[in-house]
Amino acid sequence: MKDATILVAGATGNLGGRIARALRERGANVRALVRHGTARDRLERLQELGVEMAAVDLRSASEVTPACTGVSCMVSALQGLRDVIVVAQTVLLDAAIKAHVPRFIPSDYSIDFTKFPAGENRNLDLRRDFHKRLDESSISATTIYNGAFAELLTGQMPLILFTLKRVLYWGNPDQRMDFTTIDDTAAFTARAALDPSTPRFLRIAGDQLSARDLTVLVSEVTGQEFKLFRAGSLGLLGTMIRVARAVAPAERQLFPAWQGMQYMRNMFDGRAKLDPLDNDRYPGICWAKVRDVLSARN
Ligand SMILES: NC(=O)c1ccc[n+]([C@@H]2O[C@H](COP(=O)([O-])OP(=O)(O)OC[C@H]3O[C@@H](n4cnc5c(N)ncnc54)[C@H](OP(=O)(O)O)[C@@H]3O)[C@@H](O)[C@H]2O)c1
Repeated sequence: MKDATILVAGATGNLGGRIARALRERGANVRALVRHGTARDRLERLQELGVEMAAVDLRSASEVTPACTGVSCMVSALQGLRDVIVVAQTVLLDAAIKAHVPRFIPSDYSIDFTKFPAGENRNLDLRRDFHKRLDESSISATTIYNGAFAELLTGQMPLILFTLKRVLYWGNPDQRMDFTTIDDTAAFTARAALDPSTPRFLRIAGDQLSARDLTVLVSEVTGQEFKLFRAGSLGLLGTMIRVARAVAPAERQLFPAWQGMQYMRNMFDGRAKLDPLDNDRYPGICWAKVRDVLSARN
């Protein structure tokens, strides 16, 4: 879409910054909604890309609405708990509607949480709550599901245990899971933001691998023998989540230990698996594989 202006909330963050860059690479005008007082270096990185800045209070629709003028799609890549995912995104939504922005991409970028009921994953339940507001509104919304960021496999996600040379799994070692790099998620989101005819949901995955597949792959990439390590059943994981949440609730943290365990359970139980994929919707995206991510770490 020539001359489109895309408004990005969360552009100072990891994914949002990459979405802004991908949009600029496609020639779009990008306006970033940034908070008053955001660190100067974060703003400078965006300014170097040619991104226009709109400093606003994200709690105030009257500040956000003027920043929406002439925008064809609002993309959110905010990160946070209820005050951000439900409250701030509702302010964005209300402002977008008031300013006649036709399309909205919420900050989902996850496994498909519509496939399991509320109560199983706190952070994804917040997105589910926001969806209720989104789907009651007049705006055309598109959620991007990408599974897990593939980069998490190099450390943050307790699946590949590099020092122990084990790949940990719960339940079924052959359950395939979806992994997409952050850059590929950003590139696809940018294309979706510029596409006026997106459906409500788009599903992407750079790779779909089981714990057993990962064991073979990480052994090949490192030249060291990794083995599968069964941590327990999904039932046991459920019990551990309940105990961890009772003992160390840390409810105001984004990622307390039990929250990471909830994501593990959702991925290993298979219900959130993405199918069918929309990878081929936009030509020219060369999907990175988990092998590429692990090789880069090595
Ligand atoms: N599928 C996966 O494996 C996976 C992994 C990680 C993230 N994600 C998803 O990707 C999306 C973006 O995450 P990210 O890792 O890129 O986040 P991030 O780097 O932490 O960036 C978060 C952005 O949100 C803004 N923000 C934070 N708190 C805010 C608040 N209280 N009010 C307003 N703005 C606030 C930040 O602004 P400032 O710069 O002003 O602080 C920043 O622009 C989220 O939906 C997240 O769940 C998915």
